[in-house]
Amino acid sequence: MPSTPDLPASMKALIVEAPGQPLQLKTLPVPSATPGSCVVKVLAAEAGHDMPHVIDGTAGFPFPPNFVPGPHAIGRVVATGPDATTLKVGQLVMVEAFIRPRDDPNDVQILWGLTAGFDPAGLKFMGDNWSLGGLAEYTRAPLENCYPLDEKRLCGPPAEGGLGYSVEDLLHLPTQLVALGGLRALDLKPGERVIVAPSTGVFSGAAVQVAVALGAQVVATGRSRATLEALQRQFPPGRVQVVPITGDVAADTAALKQWGPVDAYLDLTPPTAAGATHPRSCFAALRKYGRACMMGVLRDDLAVSHLLLTFNSLTVRGQFMYERADAWLLIKMVEAGVLRLGKEGGNEVVGRFKFEQADEAFALAQKNAKMGKIVAFVP
Ligand SMILES: NC(=O)c1ccc[n+]([C@@H]2O[C@H](COP(=O)([O-])OP(=O)(O)OC[C@H]3O[C@@H](n4cnc5c(N)ncnc54)[C@H](OP(=O)(O)O)[C@@H]3O)[C@@H](O)[C@H]2O)c1
Repeated sequence: MPSTPDLPASMKALIVEAPGQPLQLKTLPVPSATPGSCVVKVLAAEAGHDMPHVIDGTAGFPFPPNFVPGPHAIGRVVATGPDATTLKVGQLVMVEAFIRPRDDPNDVQILWGLTAGFDPAGLKFMGDNWSLGGLAEYTRAPLENCYPLDEKRLCGPPAEGGLGYSVEDLLHLPTQLVALGGLRALDLKPGERVIVAPSTGVFSGAAVQVAVALGAQVVATGRSRATLEALQRQFPPGRVQVVPITGDVAADTAALKQWGPVDAYLDLTPPTAAGATHPRSCFAALRKYGRACMMGVLRDDLAVSHLLLTFNSLTVRGQFMYERADAWLLIKMVEAGVLRLGKEGGNEVVGRFKFEQADEAFALAQKNAKMGKIVAFVP
């Protein structure tokens, strides 16, 4: 099997034995490539702000025993399974977390490095195959979850036609990919007006960036005018309009449609906003035949008028993650320079840490659980 000749036998990894147990730095064997997988040397992995809650069990996300977390990683392929056709040793790749079994991609769905989901079959599938996530010096991932990146274009110096990103800057890609999944589920077209609600969160802020890059006109909402205006300043004048949510449904609805008919609404409401009024205003602001896509992960039921859905012929759908075609498109958008990473795109890597500094990394990540901010492990 194609492989870097000098792969070490062991490596450092952050591992948790079971939910509620501490994250420990341990020495593990370097994985080998099996059919359908490749081994990646991790160059950067995100210290996600919610990861401590996943590890201590309070997030309620199941994961298998002896789990190495880390759902977002950028790395270099060091070995490929015998069935790899395009991926080559030495290639820079984004490892993307949404794993679906090949024999039934629509049933069990797990998030690599994050959770096996709530189906016991997912726990077995993850435990037997994919319990090694991105917080390791080397990891193993399905071939189809490793996306080649044009390193020269993305990381090369601007004087040579590159975009000058660091490898850690590329960690913004997986967050933007979730946003693109929702916007493509809406079939958003250039020139259309879309409400992103709310719009200043980790994923929702990324959705505003991606919607602008797709050529849409964005109406951004949130409770803080100052935060919304800071978001608005990242874009050319007129591309993003802002509406602070007041809680007065009728007034907020009128404010949302003051720039003209609203074609689409992407919902990325976090659980902390359960019971918030903005979904009602956003549905009411949609034009006839408007489309809504619900991506927020909340336990409460969606409150929306049947009459409104019926008489306005609205289409409402949910969206979990994205499709593979979305990942290819996102990478093209970033490589083309249409969607910007780095400070110019409103994004920032606020800290870089070794695995030995895990507590420090997660503490900084929790302070920076904001749009565009990433804390990176650089093993
Ligand atoms: N479907 C999927 O595949 C998928 C994938 C990833 C994430 N998600 C989900 O997407 C959602 C958004 O993620 P995120 O990371 O962007 O969340 P986040 O960073 O926690 O969201 C913060 C945003 O929510 C607003 N907000 C907070 N409390 C609010 C309240 N009480 N009323 C109104 N707005 C409030 C904040 O605005 P202000 O504080 O300024 O008002 C800010 O805009 C989450 O539910 C997450 O689980 C879904």
